[in-house]
Amino acid sequence: MSISFQVQDRLFTLHTRTTTYQMQIGPLGYLCHLYYGRRAEGSLSHLYRPEEFGFSPNPYPLRLQKVTSLDTMPQEYTGCNTGDFRVNCLTVSGAEGAYGAEFRYVSHAILPGKYAVEGMPSAFAGADEAETLVITLADEVTGLELELYYGVFEARDVITRAARLRNAGENALTLERAASLCLDFPFGDWDLLHFQGRHNMERQVVRAPITGGIQTASSRRGASSHQHNPFVILAEQDATEDRGDCCGLMLVYSGSHRTDVERDQTGSTRVVMGIQDSQFRWTLAPGEHFQTPEVLLTFSHEGLGQLSRNYHRFIRGNLCRSPWVNRRRPVLINNWEATYFDFDTDKIISIARQASALGVELLVLDDGWFGSRYDENRGLGDWFVNEEKLPGGLDRLISEVNGLGMQFGLWVEPEMVNEDSDLYRAHPDWALTLPGRAPTMGRNQLVLDMGREDVVEYLYQRLSALLEGHNISYIKWDMNRSLTDVYSRALPPERQGEAAHRYVLGVYALLERLTARFPEVLLEGCAGGGGRFDAGMLAYCPQIWCSDDTDAVERLSIQYGTSFGYPVSAMGAHVSACPNHQTGRTVSLDTRAVVAMHGTFGYELDLNLLTEAEKAAVRRQIERFHRYADLIGQGDYYRLTDPARTSDCYAWQTVSPDKAEALVSVVIPHVRATTPLIRVQLRGAGGGRPVPGFRVRRVQRRERLRCPVRPGGGQGVHRRGADVQRLRPPPAVRRLPQRSDSLGKGAVTWIP
Ligand code: GLA
Repeated sequence: MSISFQVQDRLFTLHTRTTTYQMQIGPLGYLCHLYYGRRAEGSLSHLYRPEEFGFSPNPYPLRLQKVTSLDTMPQEYTGCNTGDFRVNCLTVSGAEGAYGAEFRYVSHAILPGKYAVEGMPSAFAGADEAETLVITLADEVTGLELELYYGVFEARDVITRAARLRNAGENALTLERAASLCLDFPFGDWDLLHFQGRHNMERQVVRAPITGGIQTASSRRGASSHQHNPFVILAEQDATEDRGDCCGLMLVYSGSHRTDVERDQTGSTRVVMGIQDSQFRWTLAPGEHFQTPEVLLTFSHEGLGQLSRNYHRFIRGNLCRSPWVNRRRPVLINNWEATYFDFDTDKIISIARQASALGVELLVLDDGWFGSRYDENRGLGDWFVNEEKLPGGLDRLISEVNGLGMQFGLWVEPEMVNEDSDLYRAHPDWALTLPGRAPTMGRNQLVLDMGREDVVEYLYQRLSALLEGHNISYIKWDMNRSLTDVYSRALPPERQGEAAHRYVLGVYALLERLTARFPEVLLEGCAGGGGRFDAGMLAYCPQIWCSDDTDAVERLSIQYGTSFGYPVSAMGAHVSACPNHQTGRTVSLDTRAVVAMHGTFGYELDLNLLTEAEKAAVRRQIERFHRYADLIGQGDYYRLTDPARTSDCYAWQTVSPDKAEALVSVVIPHVRATTPLIRVQLRGAGGGRPVPGFRVRRVQRRERLRCPVRPGGGQGVHRRGADVQRLRPPPAVRRLPQRSDSLGKGAVTWIP
């Protein structure tokens, strides 16, 4: 039993393999949080002691006792306007316009298996893998009922949480904020790690001490966003990859979100995570309920590496439902950076022919195959083949591709529409626009109102027809702008604050129906690269295009940051052409392949333009990937270097589940005139301790950096000695353990 209730002390204890979570029904029935951390036995009620605090108010029945205050009590979920001045979970008002709620314990149930989250993706459990605790609380005055859900995955060291609010009263209630959880850390000095970025530079790790005040990581873009991922870690200030306590909170949601972290007057740290409350307003009529998205919690006392591995295993084993999640993915060729919009059947076939000769298994036809899509200004929404570009339609192309022994995949961007499209001309009211205002444009396109059932139904029928009618094995599902002008013509004025969340529910409803009907189609998520790389999308898509930045050196920090929460098997990564289209940098083909193998691995360039020697190298890379694909996709992942300490070297390692094999990859992105020896500590033999080193063949390569002259000067070739790229060694697999082997006077060696 991973969940227990001790009647006498009114104590709930959740145990996982290495952690304990405890809470207690406290004074007046408030649900007090006591502890989440490394495994502990017995009551931890001594961790909370009510104390009188000036200007922290007391509940009326305890007005003379004066020590109990919601403002200082660690809580599982907060009420509203009743004495807790810290960041709150809930803002609710009733018929008289009065803000207020105060939840007290009513009942609880301990159930076998894992609860489900209505209308949104959530974790699932195999037989006997999880238990559920549901605690019901209520606010007497409004009749608002709160159900707190806890899913305990003992062997995974993961606890999931979600909340459900039901109006059991007689009057309508208005929610202006409804977070998924509150998690109080009553003691400890913590760093906050969050993952921020921009288009072409997603999920950069930011680590800073949590000091007094509130820090917020949020998106108001309608998507989880390039800018702030819905995932944070609290880590002890001296926690490293292998040591120290850390706690992760990952929201299973793909829309606007908000995480507030506050260190309060008592030194306690509170995290509140959930959907974004800006422009949120949800009417709860009597009998109606509101479901929050789920949060995945994990706690590691063995540092950040173990925390990441907990998430990697959990996402692969308990979140993503695709049958592809633990399968080896086909090596793909995508035509986007090879052709952009300028292609026809012959051009695509010539790329496919060359790709197939080199061992590529899947051809993905990217943007531009439909409607009047000759450039990015038109055609979105018209998901019918453009016969001018592709005479004979998709079937002719697909049968040629299949004839080459390759599978066929297709790009779509279902949630979007161009003004210049038949779909928009037929249904202008399907787009999100504000009454009386010219819409704000992004990539000159508009966003469809996915909260409308007719829009979802139309897209379901159209995409189903495409997938039924053609032999399509893979879909890249893109989303290339943020939501603005959020106004739904299907909702009455008083419900406009529901439109952004209903949009996300519509996206999930569509994905739910399509993945149920076409489970074997491999789905790759995308939003201008990694603008919607989150646990919600990963429930449907076993892989997501990590970034539009395909420069291998830039990808190092993007994939490094992504790895804190998300598995390598989820990171879409390709070898692209050089000079790179985003940065102008030239990196060796070998380095590009090493970096792309830190992901799903594929190519995105015209392979016809490679020299014979490069083609031979591509063939070898694909063979190498086949050899290591299971290890990369299923193995335990270790970050070996920390770019915050040294940006001279990125190294990572994947260890097979039986610990018999490991793949070590190293890239030196910057070469110095004089390079000191870099020592890399290998990890992975049980408990995160270092293992004896591997024999690693030494390969040293110097390359020239080429960069375009900007602006306007065309392209030039510059030799800049200081920016020479070097890679060594290539990934090497050896049996563990082996003796360490110094690389001599090179730049990298292994520490045994
Ligand atoms: C987005 C994607 C790219 C490509 C283009 C096509 O930017 O991230 O990979 O598919 O759209 O328009």
